[in-house]
Amino acid sequence: MGVQSERLDAPALREDFPILEREFDGTPLVYLDNAATSQTPERVVESISDYYYRYNANVHRGIHNLSQEASIAYEEAHDTVAEFIGAAGREEVVFTKNTTEAMNTVAYAWGLNELGPGDEVVLTEMEHHASLVTWQQIAKKTGAECRFIPITDDGYLDMNAAADLITDDTRMVSVVHASNTLGTVNPVRELADIAHDHGAYIFVDGAQSAPHMEIDVAELDCDFFAFSAHKVCGPTGIGALYGKEEILEAMEPYLYGGDMILKVTFEDSQWNELPWKFEAGTPNIAQAIGFAEAVEYVEDVGIDRIHRHSTDLAAYAYDRLTEYDDVEVYGPPADDRGPLVAFNVDGVHAHDLSSIVNDYGVAIRAGDHCTQPLHDVLGATASARASFYLYNTESEVDALVEAVNEARQLFA
Ligand code: ALA
Repeated sequence: MGVQSERLDAPALREDFPILEREFDGTPLVYLDNAATSQTPERVVESISDYYYRYNANVHRGIHNLSQEASIAYEEAHDTVAEFIGAAGREEVVFTKNTTEAMNTVAYAWGLNELGPGDEVVLTEMEHHASLVTWQQIAKKTGAECRFIPITDDGYLDMNAAADLITDDTRMVSVVHASNTLGTVNPVRELADIAHDHGAYIFVDGAQSAPHMEIDVAELDCDFFAFSAHKVCGPTGIGALYGKEEILEAMEPYLYGGDMILKVTFEDSQWNELPWKFEAGTPNIAQAIGFAEAVEYVEDVGIDRIHRHSTDLAAYAYDRLTEYDDVEVYGPPADDRGPLVAFNVDGVHAHDLSSIVNDYGVAIRAGDHCTQPLHDVLGATASARASFYLYNTESEVDALVEAVNEARQLFA
């Protein structure tokens, strides 16, 4: 099949990303590691340098002009991100370091206080370590138990098992929205309904969905949602934790210090209003400004167009790679997957494969993609993964397939 997403002009968009002009010994870069981190358009980089060149100051700590300007930009970045995911307002958006820190914030601030023996946290077999390790360790500290919704042979969640596993003992359902390994997009709203029927919260890991899918946290009815800026054309070092306002209000802060307080005496402290209650210390101001610029860039391109374009490329890659009998692509079929393909070639270790395709300028990821237990379920120690974004093209998929074919022949 050919790529049908003519409505997104990837070659024109590439001009926004100077890094894509790089060559290695005359071989052009083919960047297919977008699930690990996306590239950053010029206007996002410029928004960050503009802050440093023109209004670098700490926020919420000065009445001088620079601090006022920086504070307004920092606060408005919350509004922009809130709008991007359909949150009611800045009160519901806490800036964290990344998705992992968002998960830890809830695990420590809520889980450590609320969970105990007899309580259960339900996850999925396709969880990223950000969620899996965090809840596993909080469960160990509190005496709670983690249970895992299994996957079917074709890489979907077993929803019958989910309905059995989520019970009145469940306090939290923590589920990845779009798998970074299988490409599966999970029925989050259905899981939210099941969780809420049992009085449990649901935390949606949106690290791989927010860059590609229209997110409406109200429509998903999730209690928490997290994603990272650097996978949405933004800078590293910043991500967002969404939480329903009444839940965040009731939660104790996770980090203590400056700016998260309203009043402090030697004996006690009162917490600041949301979201600042969860943002102790000098925050990532420049990154927040870049984050807001990045989601505006993505919205200007059009998230639906990005989704269509990236998933069409993934489907094309799936179809081309599976023309080889010795290539196994994990997860759902070509027409029902997110914008990535994780795969193995018989007799070629994923690291060797990645190294050989790198010789052809093609950047993919190899390893367990922070989903070791999922790889155990798949019966693989590692896999190679190509992941696509708005600036990738069909000819780049062809370059990947040709490089994979070279590797196959080398090891034949
Ligand atoms: N979690 C990111 C990935 O899947 C880093 O590559």
